[in-house]
Amino acid sequence: FLAQLAQWNIRVGIIGGSGIYKLEGFEIIGSVNPETPWGFPSSPLTIARNAQGVHVAFLARHGLTHSITPSGVPVCANIAALKWIGARAILAFSAVGSLREEIAPRDFVVPSQIIDRTKGVRRATFFGEGKDAGVVAHAMFGDPFDEILRPQVEKIVRETLAKEEPNVKVHGDKTAVCMEGPAFSTRAESLMYRAWGGDLINMSALPEAKLAREAEISYVLIATATDYDAWRPAEGSVHVAEVVACLVANVAASQKVTAALVNPINELVKNDDCEAVKAIRGSMRFSIMTRPE
Ligand code: ADE
Repeated sequence: FLAQLAQWNIRVGIIGGSGIYKLEGFEIIGSVNPETPWGFPSSPLTIARNAQGVHVAFLARHGLTHSITPSGVPVCANIAALKWIGARAILAFSAVGSLREEIAPRDFVVPSQIIDRTKGVRRATFFGEGKDAGVVAHAMFGDPFDEILRPQVEKIVRETLAKEEPNVKVHGDKTAVCMEGPAFSTRAESLMYRAWGGDLINMSALPEAKLAREAEISYVLIATATDYDAWRPAEGSVHVAEVVACLVANVAASQKVTAALVNPINELVKNDDCEAVKAIRGSMRFSIMTRPE
């Protein structure tokens, strides 16, 4: 199995967020649990193949039984494991709260920006810390999601859901906020994030997207709204039952979106001379501040 992994040319990694613990509509080939220099990933990587013979690796961000909190996700190990398996693109799913009236629960969002409100308790770089001390790097992150893949992902999500789930709306070009959990936001915080220009909020997209950038893996976030967070004056604040009910309703849509994305995104990263690959490969060379001795 391990010997075959390299031949399968796995280029697309899928990270399942809350509610998505396995892939449907794929042939499951097996799983592998690599120990990276940063430890084991949240879950073993499931290797799956679609009808066209494209192989992908799937990882459950919060573990297979949802036992890992957003702050406890071994993000460095997750990204390192996907890098090890050969991923050049990560499609990351995440449940989010909506900070805007027009983003209704069950809607999909492919955001273009993100505000970091994690509080420094999560390790956010492969460089300069712990056993990796001594090399300091500052990744370019003005466009946090891959600007070549993101519009394509948005287009495919739109087309797929228009056909398969016409009641589900799709939004692009939005700003996410990534907060430190596990408690949801206060009403004051929720209103502040709106004033800052935030459109949706989650607890998991960072430092995942930053570490993917450092690992030179193109990363796109696919968010599914589950609630209106706490900002709406007439309503109570978000609770888990509401989030879970929405997630369950959305799993089928997420699985259809995943199935539709794999072939076209694999096409965009499978060869060394693909535009998306050329844009990111070697980019970290220009981010290293440490001077050679
Ligand atoms: N994930 C789902 N809903 C959320 C919310 N309201 N705040 C933060 N993360 C979330």
